[in-house]
Amino acid sequence: MDLNLKGKVALITGGTRGIGRAIAFKLAGEGVQLVLNYLRNRRAAEETAAEIEALSGQRPLLLKGNVGEQDKVAALIAEFQEHHNHLDILISNAASGVLRSALELTPRHLQWTLEINALALLWLSQAARPLLRSGSKILAVSSLGSTRAFPNYAAVGASKAALESLVRHLSLELAPQGININTLSAGVVDTEALTHFPNREALLAHSLAQTPAGKLVTPDDVADVALFLCSPLAQMIHGQTLTVDGGYNIVA
Ligand SMILES: NC(=O)c1ccc[n+]([C@@H]2O[C@H](COP(=O)([O-])OP(=O)(O)OC[C@H]3O[C@@H](n4cnc5c(N)ncnc54)[C@H](OP(=O)(O)O)[C@@H]3O)[C@@H](O)[C@H]2O)c1
Repeated sequence: MDLNLKGKVALITGGTRGIGRAIAFKLAGEGVQLVLNYLRNRRAAEETAAEIEALSGQRPLLLKGNVGEQDKVAALIAEFQEHHNHLDILISNAASGVLRSALELTPRHLQWTLEINALALLWLSQAARPLLRSGSKILAVSSLGSTRAFPNYAAVGASKAALESLVRHLSLELAPQGININTLSAGVVDTEALTHFPNREALLAHSLAQTPAGKLVTPDDVADVALFLCSPLAQMIHGQTLTVDGGYNIVA
């Protein structure tokens, strides 16, 4: 099916590894011109760009910058504008966060986590607003911790809850302009992010056992739904959180 995305321009934060990378490949396969942001890992960024170029013939533009800092986001969008004068698809995917017991969290832990995981969406949407037009899509990537409780996930869970709320409130202002903003939430996905969890193996085993679909969600599974939400097929979906978790979240 032709999703009518050929020639569109997309910016994906954290688009060089994990889920963001998988979304980048899907969009590239549809002929979308990519701008991929990353923070530190230049090597992974170059590898992803080279692989996408080999697949699609178009090399993504790589932009380094911390999306958790408002001035860095402004600089990122300014650099983007040196190459493109509009933005069709903005995917706020990069995330970080302190994994620690709620009772041990400090203001610094919370500030760091909220800035990167929630406020980045706001700074990106504000800075990119003049580049968006009717039909543009914004997608925020979230996790089940926004509505559920997991050990050591208080800061990240709270940041994702804030993110999803921001999506709803931004949608009130953007939907009348013909701009869709939605959240794509995922169950446990085995990316490098999981290596930061002290209980990675137990997390994966528990998730697999509790998932009605009988298998873990892959980055590609998430990217498929991202593609749908970025397409004209989803034009009447506004301010929603769509969950890709193989049914994990419905189990009592
Ligand atoms: N993995 C899961 O189980 C899971 C489940 C549900 C939702 N999610 C969500 O999916 C998204 C992607 O997660 P992932 O597992 O794919 O992560 P990942 O494999 O760790 O990749 C993270 C990407 O984000 C970039 N990044 C990190 N902090 C950044 C910052 N401050 N500014 C700009 N870029 C930054 C990284 O750049 P460098 O390469 O330079 O470090 C990298 O490209 C996140 O929003 C996460 O919360 C993940």
